Amino acid sequence: MNFTLLSTAFSIFLLSVCLVLVRTSDVKSKPAPEKGQNVCAYQRVKTQLVLRRNATSTRNLKIVDCGIPSFPKLKCKEERNETKIYWYPVREFIHYNIFDCCPGWIGYKPKVGCKERVPCGVAIPQKAPLHCHESRGKDLTKHRGIYKLGHVNNLPFPMSDINAYLLINLTLADPFTETWMKLYGYMLKKNLALIQSFPKTNTKEFTKIFDYEGVYHFFIKQQQNEEMVRPFFRFPSQEEPFKSVINNITWREDRVFTEQRLAGLNPMSLMKVTSGQDSVGVKWSDLKSRLNQNYDWDAAVTRSLGKNILLEEAIADGSIFVAQYPVFDNLVTVPDITEHRPTRKMWPAMSPIALFVSRPGKSGAPAQLRPVAIQLDYTPDSQVYSPEDGDLWALAKESFQVTDFAYVEMVEHLLKTHLMMEPFCVCVLRHLSKLHPLHQLLKYHCRGLLPTNKVGFPKLVDDKAYMHQLFAIGNIGAVTLLVRAYQTLTWADTDFRAKNKARGIDDRSKLPYFPYRDDGEVIYQATEDLVNDYVNFYYAADNDVLEDHEIQGFANEVSSDGLGSNGGQGKLRGFPASITSKAMLADIVTRLIWTSSAQHTAVNYPITAYGAFTPNMPTKMYDDDRVAPEVFNPFRLPNGFVSAVQAGVAMSLGSLRIDRLFDYGARLMEQGGRVIVLKHYNRLHSKVKPLLDNRNKQRFQEGYLTYPYLSPAWIPNSICT
Ligand SMILES: [Fe+2]
Repeated sequence: MNFTLLSTAFSIFLLSVCLVLVRTSDVKSKPAPEKGQNVCAYQRVKTQLVLRRNATSTRNLKIVDCGIPSFPKLKCKEERNETKIYWYPVREFIHYNIFDCCPGWIGYKPKVGCKERVPCGVAIPQKAPLHCHESRGKDLTKHRGIYKLGHVNNLPFPMSDINAYLLINLTLADPFTETWMKLYGYMLKKNLALIQSFPKTNTKEFTKIFDYEGVYHFFIKQQQNEEMVRPFFRFPSQEEPFKSVINNITWREDRVFTEQRLAGLNPMSLMKVTSGQDSVGVKWSDLKSRLNQNYDWDAAVTRSLGKNILLEEAIADGSIFVAQYPVFDNLVTVPDITEHRPTRKMWPAMSPIALFVSRPGKSGAPAQLRPVAIQLDYTPDSQVYSPEDGDLWALAKESFQVTDFAYVEMVEHLLKTHLMMEPFCVCVLRHLSKLHPLHQLLKYHCRGLLPTNKVGFPKLVDDKAYMHQLFAIGNIGAVTLLVRAYQTLTWADTDFRAKNKARGIDDRSKLPYFPYRDDGEVIYQATEDLVNDYVNFYYAADNDVLEDHEIQGFANEVSSDGLGSNGGQGKLRGFPASITSKAMLADIVTRLIWTSSAQHTAVNYPITAYGAFTPNMPTKMYDDDRVAPEVFNPFRLPNGFVSAVQAGVAMSLGSLRIDRLFDYGARLMEQGGRVIVLKHYNRLHSKVKPLLDNRNKQRFQEGYLTYPYLSPAWIPNSICT
């Protein structure tokens, strides 16, 4: 009994000690100058348990024998008082003061005080120490003096309004961008020299497909001839399972032509054709008005599907897909500045329409997309050819590739990634302090974009520059394309999942093979997971987002709905002028990273495997006096000089990779963000990469085009080529 009481008392004592330790907390501070400079007294409260004594007494009465022998029957009252003592714990609050540095100061020494400022670390602005607000503001004011949004040559989309030489010098002076800038400059200079020297050493006219193979191999070999820079100039087509089209057979195959809509340089144009009230894809009523009604589309679908069916029945079944380019309707054709022989006549710019059908596999095998026919232009009197038409079909495919090539470069690549991201990357510099957690993250996804656009844009679209040399639409048509496509550009263009749904390409039974869609989803999910963790770490509640004046200023300037002196400069329609929740912020950051990394990779890097080889993706086509009208012959392709320009430009766009997705975790300034990014990078390489690599092995074994581009090892963080 005694032992039990003792142990209970001891336990209560221990508990009370623990509570005293745990419950101590600051209440508030106030300056205590008498204790030294910048010293505050902090009121603290601690709780401790004390044992209180409680005693209860009871009185018992009993009638007992009095015990007097002479009166044996005499009864007496016996009165007994009992006292019980209880001990019980009581919580006590104890108020006391401690002295330490006032907020914003560190290094407390008794009697001397605190003379050191707290360093300004990574934080959202409202959580930064007060004295850091001033330095953050000064930095931003300086940046706003350098980086501004303006307009180049009266074009409607905003670009950075900064002198090119100043921008290049700033980029070279910053260790963060210096290596990239040097590599980029080295690459552009080298490819320009190769383009200029190629015609001097290759004077013979191209007469065979083999001659074009030679251009391809010459340029790709030259990218890797210097050992020092070789790690930055690598090609998945050389290191991964890859079905090369660089020969005289593969690029001609209908299967390869079709699969390039799903895993090639432009996986963005294929859409489902839908009838009735279906709001996804392309409405049949709209498409029908563009098609040649004298052509027997029913027969063409029947041939491709291998069974008797009307086109409208196949549409109702969800089996018909189309690739078309309405922004090419009535586009200008410029005089040919690269071919002076009167015996060769360049084909004009066209707006082709290609129909495809999803054909069910035999004995339960997956469905496959097959070409139905190609209409050469968008007007209903245009000629239409199908796979049974021999050389005319080959010519129709080439003509289609010409438009697809110019479209993907100008609209999907230049406009929807490079120019889409430009206002964001300018506004990261203008509004987010270097110590803002999202600046810390986004700077890796903006690295090199502004100089690339500043240098690359005129190289593409100036008079007699690359677009003028390469395509029948020339520089004038290229700019017209940009301006036309910009009219409908909105923030919704960055929404990977919603766009796939709106295109009607999410039906896996009809399109089981679609590597851009499927591998893209895995990367999108991985990006979203990282961003959610990152945003949740730095923002405890939605209110933190609302009170972050830096991120709100950023949104206000980018959005077309922004207000005030800098509001709306980014002119981006559909982008919110204020960000109201953590979920909204995470969605925005996910889409910015997706656009800069995987989406740009998808519409850029396959150019070296598909767009650097003229027969697969020619930039122009010709009528040549030596070739009959219905015959395909290499004389119909651009000359050797144009082919060299094409290969040189393709290599300048698709060879340089300076980093890989999310590889910067260890270099982040703040421990919390560092741990999050490292965790997701490791997951990307230990789980996602093997998954996607296995998919590609299987695709290769089954004879499909593989899609190494969205494997994490081949996705750079930013748009910098
Ligand atoms: Fe690019």
